[in-house]
Amino acid sequence: MRVVVTGAAGFIGRWVVAELLERGHTVLPVDNLSQGDRGNLAALVDHPHLEPLVVGDVRDGEACREWLAGADAVAHLAASISVQDSIDNPAETFDNDVVGTFRILEAAREHGTRVLFMSTCMVYDLAIAPEGIAETHPVKPASPYAASKVAGEALTLSFFHAYGLPTTVVRPFNTYGPFQRSVGEGGVVAIFTRLSLQGEQLRIYGDGTQTRDLLYVRDCARFVCDALFSDGATGKILNAGTGVDVSVNELAALVETDASKIVHAPHIHPQSEIAVLRCDARLADKVLGWRPQVSLAEGLAATRVWMAERLAAGERVP
Ligand SMILES: NC(=O)c1ccc[n+]([C@@H]2O[C@H](COP(=O)([O-])OP(=O)(O)OC[C@H]3O[C@@H](n4cnc5c(N)ncnc54)[C@H](O)[C@@H]3O)[C@@H](O)[C@H]2O)c1
Repeated sequence: MRVVVTGAAGFIGRWVVAELLERGHTVLPVDNLSQGDRGNLAALVDHPHLEPLVVGDVRDGEACREWLAGADAVAHLAASISVQDSIDNPAETFDNDVVGTFRILEAAREHGTRVLFMSTCMVYDLAIAPEGIAETHPVKPASPYAASKVAGEALTLSFFHAYGLPTTVVRPFNTYGPFQRSVGEGGVVAIFTRLSLQGEQLRIYGDGTQTRDLLYVRDCARFVCDALFSDGATGKILNAGTGVDVSVNELAALVETDASKIVHAPHIHPQSEIAVLRCDARLADKVLGWRPQVSLAEGLAATRVWMAERLAAGERVP
């Protein structure tokens, strides 16, 4: 298959490209490099089935039509992903995440291309269900980022219902691993790992009892590739998570063994915080036969090794 990956120079996109190549597909990577880094694809550029990175924007409908011509599927990951940025500047998140998604869908409709839309678990309302959050759980967009993803999901599914276009929505839970940004509003694992390696304090926002279901990025990429080509996933929303959550306090203690280095600070946007994020992953198991393969301990160790190597080599850590 020939697959277009948008947001390919970003954190998860980079791993989706690698997984697709490993499965024998041809990949056209697209990214506007607003957040992504060409260097994230450096280890893959010599692969014979990787086409050169196209620096382009998913808001450009004409460009989307060109990329999708001759493609069998598109994994649409390009997005503005920062909750805080979406609160400060909702227009930019709306343009990238809603308008960009619509342009991809329109191009896919023209060419009959399969579409996988990358949503997020941030769309869900508060939940304390012991079995975790299932796809049927109510959504409550607590930030313009979450609202833009809900809109993107609705558009994606409407193209299935209205036109019969094979589309799938994936809602990954918090994803972590090598190549994730560790500055600003990067991932909590990346930030904690960098601070720990640099001997600095780990700051927890709020009381640290909020929990996260942490998905290792390679498992996330496997999920995307499984769902992208699954007829059973067509027209569906699927959660991607492990089914096990960990509190931010527990996570900090796993990353940093010196308890004196862990401090608490008031939350910057408490209104957008979700207290318990634990995935009910049973539907994905049933539809795709997908299960996580990497434990939290293994994933944290792999992330630490990767970051330590980059820091030791004097390379820039994103
Ligand atoms: N990281 C997580 O924990 C997580 C969890 C759930 C869902 N997601 C979703 O997964 C996807 C990838 O997230 P990520 O963590 O890799 O983020 P990322 O910021 O590393 O990747 C997004 C990429 O999209 C690119 N991009 C942004 N706007 C664009 C545009 N208009 N045109 C072309 N490219 C554009 C950026 O340059 C970046 O490389 C996003 O859709 C995000 O919402 C991420």
